[in-house]
Amino acid sequence: MNRAQVPVIAVDGPSGAGKGTLCHRLARALDWHLLDSGALYRVTGQACVLDGIDWADHDAVTEVARHLQVAFETAPTGEVLVTYRGRDISRAIRTEEGGRGASTVAAIPAVREALLARQREFRQPPGLVADGRDMGTVVFPDAPLKVFLTASAEERARRRYLQLLEKGENVSLPRLLEDIEERDARDRSRAVAPLMPAEDAVVIDSSQLPIEDVFDRVMATARERGLV
Ligand code: DC
Repeated sequence: MNRAQVPVIAVDGPSGAGKGTLCHRLARALDWHLLDSGALYRVTGQACVLDGIDWADHDAVTEVARHLQVAFETAPTGEVLVTYRGRDISRAIRTEEGGRGASTVAAIPAVREALLARQREFRQPPGLVADGRDMGTVVFPDAPLKVFLTASAEERARRRYLQLLEKGENVSLPRLLEDIEERDARDRSRAVAPLMPAEDAVVIDSSQLPIEDVFDRVMATARERGLV
């Protein structure tokens, strides 16, 4: 099977819409590979912090992205261990600050270009579930199934709030909503690969829909299209 024949389910949408959960379930159910493209941007942002590079220094950030020495390892518990130059940054990249760094460096066109080939390498048999913002529009425009998963900003902030509370973090709901709206605006308005549904994407609003129902809908569509 050459790479172009490997089926891809591309899942795009704003932060907190449920893409991560959906993609993990799909990859597990199908036994396909999983690309968490946001993690690559998060690692790039965090690598800059560790290397003392300002996110505003586009040339230096691009060099970091080009030579990113990152490793993703899945523990038996299902948890993903992320190391940069041998240092565990799994937690650091998941903080709100990590998200801000990712969204900032992701707006640099040369950084996106530098990470393109690396993302396409994940397309390996028997198939790939790709989670991101531009999976269906830029990285895998020939994906046979594209999903755009969205939810209202209020619902996404509420979900994030509950997640952080569970982790014992002290957070404010209005502040989270503000952060989400700010990040959405940056992701949607950037010049290169802005967050938007591909023309041929199946758009699903998960504001009122449990993730199990979203999963069932995507699996049904994958079956209809002969992917599984
Ligand atoms: O999915 P996430 O929250 O881990 O992504 C973090 C940031 O990275 C997000 O604000 C936008 C950016 N990103 C992107 O620009 N393109 C992608 N394919 C994935 C993420």
